[in-house]
Amino acid sequence: GVTRHYNFTIQSHKVSKLCSTKHIISVNRKFPGPTIHLDEGDRVVVKVTNRVPHNMTIHWHGVRQLRSAWFDGPAYITQCPIQPNQTFTYNFTVTEQRGTLWWHAHINWLRATVHGAFIIHPKPGLGYPFPKPEKEVPLIFSEWWKSDVLKVVKQALGTGGGPNISDAFTINGKPGPLYNCSSQDVFVLNALPGKTYLLRLVNAVLNTELFFAIANHTLTVVEADAGYVKPFNTNVVVIAPGQTMNLLVTANQAPGRYFMAAHSYESGQNVTFDNTTVTAIFQYQQASSSSPPVLPPLPFFNDTKPVTAFNSKLRKLATPEDPIAVPQTVDQHLFFTVGLAVENCPPGASNKTCQGPNGGRFAASVNNITFTVPTTAILQAHYFNTPGVYSTDFPISPLVKFNYTGPSLKNLNSINGTRTKVAVLPYGANVELILQDTSIVTTESHPIHLHGYNFYVVGTGFGNYNSSLASTFNLVDPPERNTIGVPVGGWAALRFKTDNPGAWFMHCHLEIHQSWGLDAAFIVNNGKGPSQSLQPPPADLPKC
Ligand code: C2O
Repeated sequence: GVTRHYNFTIQSHKVSKLCSTKHIISVNRKFPGPTIHLDEGDRVVVKVTNRVPHNMTIHWHGVRQLRSAWFDGPAYITQCPIQPNQTFTYNFTVTEQRGTLWWHAHINWLRATVHGAFIIHPKPGLGYPFPKPEKEVPLIFSEWWKSDVLKVVKQALGTGGGPNISDAFTINGKPGPLYNCSSQDVFVLNALPGKTYLLRLVNAVLNTELFFAIANHTLTVVEADAGYVKPFNTNVVVIAPGQTMNLLVTANQAPGRYFMAAHSYESGQNVTFDNTTVTAIFQYQQASSSSPPVLPPLPFFNDTKPVTAFNSKLRKLATPEDPIAVPQTVDQHLFFTVGLAVENCPPGASNKTCQGPNGGRFAASVNNITFTVPTTAILQAHYFNTPGVYSTDFPISPLVKFNYTGPSLKNLNSINGTRTKVAVLPYGANVELILQDTSIVTTESHPIHLHGYNFYVVGTGFGNYNSSLASTFNLVDPPERNTIGVPVGGWAALRFKTDNPGAWFMHCHLEIHQSWGLDAAFIVNNGKGPSQSLQPPPADLPKC
């Protein structure tokens, strides 16, 4: 492989959208930020210079960081933040992976405007397991706020209520003509009749799962989270925050202009999300630009059936470079509840900060523990044996057992003492992790993301998980992902092998749930020998 050098300068720049102008924090004055291209096996060196008055880190979402955990990026998990006017150089080799991933800020919701695509092409000389497309086009879903994002965050967290909604969704930074003042602010893909295009989808939205479709066109799904899948056709795809997906689309309809459109999927009731549809245009060469584009039908915003149907079609496609390696036996069983809860308001808190149900405030937890981010990085504390940063008593199954999908409201956050607990896993173990939604204050499914690993999704279902369901698992060709939507009132079963030493974050990729504490961390102990163990930290690793 070769070495790819990038310079990322975090700066503030002025953007006009939806008839108003403001400054946003971005990389190299771009929204979305620059796309990173590399071939499998290449080294990536990104020098990040922070020129804004906020702490910053960059995470390479889905990059496994084999033996390079120091460069993973989540603030206070693998590194202390890059402070204003400081520089940190991320330097890692990407092996055993190919496909569409992405990068984003991993601190304090700054990923809202600090994100971009990370595209790993197959090793030189190796093609795709599908016909070579005419062109490859990233489609990055994101959002736009008229007000300052950090103020929005402050307000969302300060009230203890719910997240604020953005003013528009965007595709490649553009909301499209269905939004006010945006008739010219639209991404256009120019298509040649008969040709096939590879769309590389990234859901960089903060808090919303999306349905996506192209009017009159069939989509062929070929990859999810940078893992090839057995191709299948569909009219609509569903993609959660954090997830990526590759689609093929052939320009085989009457030459014209067709909307590529997305809107939110919210499984819960009573959600008041903006349902305006973000659009881009799939435009045939001969199409007259005056003909109004056709809008595709999208499922109703809380329709769960197409989501379940879509996800059940995902099957891993084995290739010589990437055979199927589902752990057939399990060394370590983990059962984690994931859910929201309503905490009693702390004594003395003003009404303003407690606008959740029954005058409480929202919190979230994994196995009854509302994760608290420490003030120094867990990986450093682990490597240097620094006491007092975290405790290793994260429970491997819930401390409070109840009917997880029943109607009762329970306070899940009953743990006293440190809430920075990690689960320590031995190197080289086959792990099965059951994620059980607790159906409390239900509004959304939880897109749970694991750093440092891909996992096989061997099963999902509704209701309470019990071990007899293990007989229904797909141990033959389950999809391999890094982010899984755990259904509302349901569960997901994951398997992976702990072949990557480090400290690894696992969290809901809905930003508001991450802030409320729907997080956990694993430490995977070093194996024996240099190829299995953690390298020493880089000299310029930021200090807290
Ligand atoms: Cu894409 Cu920890 O995140």
